Amino acid sequence: MKILVTGGAGFIGSNFIHLLMGPENPHQRDYEVLNLDKLTYAGNLENLANLAHHKHYRFIHGDICDGKLVDSLLESGIEAIINFAAESHVDRSLYEPDLFIQTNVVGVQVLLHAALRHKIKKFIQVSTDEVYGSLSPEAPGFREDTPLSPNSPYSASKAAADLLVRSYFKTYGFPAVITRCSNNYGPYQFPEKLIPLFITNALENKPLPVYGDGLNVRDWIHVEDHCRALALVLQKGREGEIYNIGGNGERNNLEITETILNLLGKPKSLIRFVTDRPGHDRRYAVDFRKIQKDLGWSPIYSLQEGLSQTVRWYLSQEEWWQRIKSGAYRDFYRKHYQERLP
Ligand code: NAD
Ligand code: TYD
Repeated sequence: MKILVTGGAGFIGSNFIHLLMGPENPHQRDYEVLNLDKLTYAGNLENLANLAHHKHYRFIHGDICDGKLVDSLLESGIEAIINFAAESHVDRSLYEPDLFIQTNVVGVQVLLHAALRHKIKKFIQVSTDEVYGSLSPEAPGFREDTPLSPNSPYSASKAAADLLVRSYFKTYGFPAVITRCSNNYGPYQFPEKLIPLFITNALENKPLPVYGDGLNVRDWIHVEDHCRALALVLQKGREGEIYNIGGNGERNNLEITETILNLLGKPKSLIRFVTDRPGHDRRYAVDFRKIQKDLGWSPIYSLQEGLSQTVRWYLSQEEWWQRIKSGAYRDFYRKHYQERLP
């Protein structure tokens, strides 16, 4: 199967490509992957360094908003598209919402339209539970039919994209599936998000900035569990459906922070309570019984196991995250790709 993966140099996309093409996958030879990524600050080709010369993998530096480029890629016999490309950080969306609308909404429309014209057999839109808004402490988890109620420019842009995808299915019978996953953590996550920021700050004995009272709740899922769910959706997901994906890992931010400090043997005195994020969603929780029942997926990692594994990964990959913090990670593209261009 020849797949276009967009945003594959980011956190979840690179984990997904590793899952498909890595040596542990007995079906790795069944896949040919084209990775289209704009390499924003969040795109890091070092995440995929071991695949740079793999014969069934190709990287293309470009923007999903570039219709001509997307068209030319789809002409090469692509059968499926899985769209990870996005601006993904809520805090940044508060200051640069236009960037979020451009990639997360306009970009998705460009992909959908090109895919429709090229009769792509499957399109997966990787969305988020944040489109449902915020829950009160005792409310049941979001279901696929929970009304959309986004609260940040990020979640509003993702909700807008979901509605576009829905309209292409309803209007044109376009074979699209939407997945809505909860907060991911694990290897290769950019150290601006809560868990990698706090692990790397603690390792450097820097303060951990906890927003507000630290009692906001997220349903944490290990990125490998999310990627296994996406691989199943690629094989068996039904057109026009939405699948929620969750981790059974509801914790508040203080609990996560204290677990990280304990795993690293660092003191609680590193915690700093700082001004809250405007519009900060209080709680997310996901009811994922549909994907369990229909596709037979469940998360494998417990949060404790997943966090220990993740902390060990950041401990063993100090060079990877130090190169991000120093900006050196941006050289990889120049060395391995740009210099070899005609
Ligand atoms: P990320 O920020 O780590 O990676 C995004 C990638 O998209 C980067 O490689 C970036 O260079 C690329 N990109 C950005 N704009 C682009 C454009 N215009 N054209 C081509 N490439 C572009 O994000 P992530 O955490 O890996 O998230 C991937 C997807 O999963 C996003 O769509 C996000 O909304 C969704 N999601 C994320 C989470 C989470 O917890 N991280 C949870 C649920 C859903
Ligand atoms: P984040 O990783 O940004 O994901 P999202 O906002 O998409 O859920 O944040 C997770 C939670 O951690 C969220 O409640 C905000 C909080 N947070 C902090 O308290 N301090 C921080 O420095 C960051 C980045 C997040």
